Amino acid sequence: PVLVVDFGAQYAQLIARRVREAHVYSELVPHSMSVEQMLEKDPQAIILSGGPASVYVDGAPTLDRAIFEAGVPVLGICYGFQVMAHELGGKVDKAALGEYGKTEAVIDQAKGILAGSPERQSVWMSHGVAVEEAPQGFEVLAHTAGAPVAAMQDPSRGLYGVQWHPEVVNTPMGQQLIETFLHQCAGLDKNWDASNIIADQVAKIRQQVGEHQVICGLSGGVDSAVAATLVHKAIGDQLTCVFVDHGLLRKGEADQVKHDFVAATGIKLITVDASEDFLQALKGVSEPEHKRKIIGEKFIRTFEKAQQQVIEEAGKTGKEVKFLVQGTLYPDVVESGGGDGAANIKSHHNVGGLPKDVKFQLIEPLRTLFKDEVRAIGSQMGLPDDIVWRQPFPGPGLGIRIIGDITKERLDLLREADAIAREELSTAGLDRDIWQCPVVLLANVHSVGVQGDERTYGSPIVLRPVSSEDAMTADWSRLPYDVLARISTRITNECRGINRVVLDVTSKPPATIEWE
Ligand code: XMP
Repeated sequence: PVLVVDFGAQYAQLIARRVREAHVYSELVPHSMSVEQMLEKDPQAIILSGGPASVYVDGAPTLDRAIFEAGVPVLGICYGFQVMAHELGGKVDKAALGEYGKTEAVIDQAKGILAGSPERQSVWMSHGVAVEEAPQGFEVLAHTAGAPVAAMQDPSRGLYGVQWHPEVVNTPMGQQLIETFLHQCAGLDKNWDASNIIADQVAKIRQQVGEHQVICGLSGGVDSAVAATLVHKAIGDQLTCVFVDHGLLRKGEADQVKHDFVAATGIKLITVDASEDFLQALKGVSEPEHKRKIIGEKFIRTFEKAQQQVIEEAGKTGKEVKFLVQGTLYPDVVESGGGDGAANIKSHHNVGGLPKDVKFQLIEPLRTLFKDEVRAIGSQMGLPDDIVWRQPFPGPGLGIRIIGDITKERLDLLREADAIAREELSTAGLDRDIWQCPVVLLANVHSVGVQGDERTYGSPIVLRPVSSEDAMTADWSRLPYDVLARISTRITNECRGINRVVLDVTSKPPATIEWE
């Protein structure tokens, strides 16, 4: 494998993903693993990730220099690059000029990991520490205003490093750098793709599950559909899917899951109508994190109740259901504060929203993957496009798209507005251009309008169309005005109580995609 050594939250999984994109198998390991243990894995190459620390500070995470002497090609990125420089005797110090964000790199020598680079390239930086002198034996390939050594290499020892982040999309030539390192410098073949990921996961699931019964919560979204299909491939009828209708779904969604998904996969499905139960629990609650926790907890309790039915239907009375499958993706984990040291932005219901005393062990086969990878896996397993290409919809559903407390009337109103927006976006052929378009009801905001010569005092609907690659960052979509106009006219005409439609023109960051 290629080992990606994790020096801190958020970066390392993204690097692993870029390695997969280069069709090479990778494994993530913590920086605290000993170098002997790393080498026991027989790595063909090693990539050191970025991280939040400063190498010259006492107690900063580091690596034994033996890692650089094992004859395995190593690429250091940002902090990992500084560790390499520091351990091998270069000069690393507080930068005279910190660089954060888009930075211009001057390429002094377009060779090795920078082969084929133009004289200047735009790179994404995030450093307050700089390598001032490269260690002996290294040649300097690039510099920036704040980094005298921004890229260096010693091909005779197979050592390479860059100060910038080649793994982020904001470094346009970043993927090329990673691929040059893997294929040219380390000589690795392209032999890893969606079908390997499937085979790998299927084997892991079989081993984890053994003879036990498994249930999977289906939400109607791509992630849980793909997770369920993977598990089904691994253990067949030991899996039962449970679809909880929590009353926070969009129009037509429940039917779609009950019919289309079952038709496409042949997986056993139990439907539980828990909408009354959820509504009751959410009554009067308007604080977003509180809503999320309630929904997360209710989901689990509903699954626990469904367990009895699963056992009976499986004809294995007495055997408990030991595992619960969830379609958690990597961005959900990071944003719920699950990455090492990451802040809790919001509790995704299937990660941070789970109660502490869950009786099931979790199976989360997509936990290290990103949405586009999940779609590729879904297609590879033969799931139809209308499941694989569905726009993301959060597990807590419309519950976190009503700003204010949740009532049946408000849900019905939002469901109508959402259906109109979705229909018009589809008709305009925009489904694959945008990542998703949350439709949000500002239930406690009222403004004055006029309709049919009458004064109205209604609530606004917010349209939140975004484009994104992985939901970690997003930009607002520049939708055609005539499409926006049609949506606005139809919503104000057809949804009684809505007298204004507004457009959210904020990127993520600073906003998140959902309003709650
Ligand atoms: P935010 O609002 O955090 O959303 O920018 C990022 C992506 O995640 C979806 N989302 C969720 N998905 N459970 C989910 O399964 C959740 O609790 C949840 N909250 C947000 C959101 O729709 C967007 O695609």
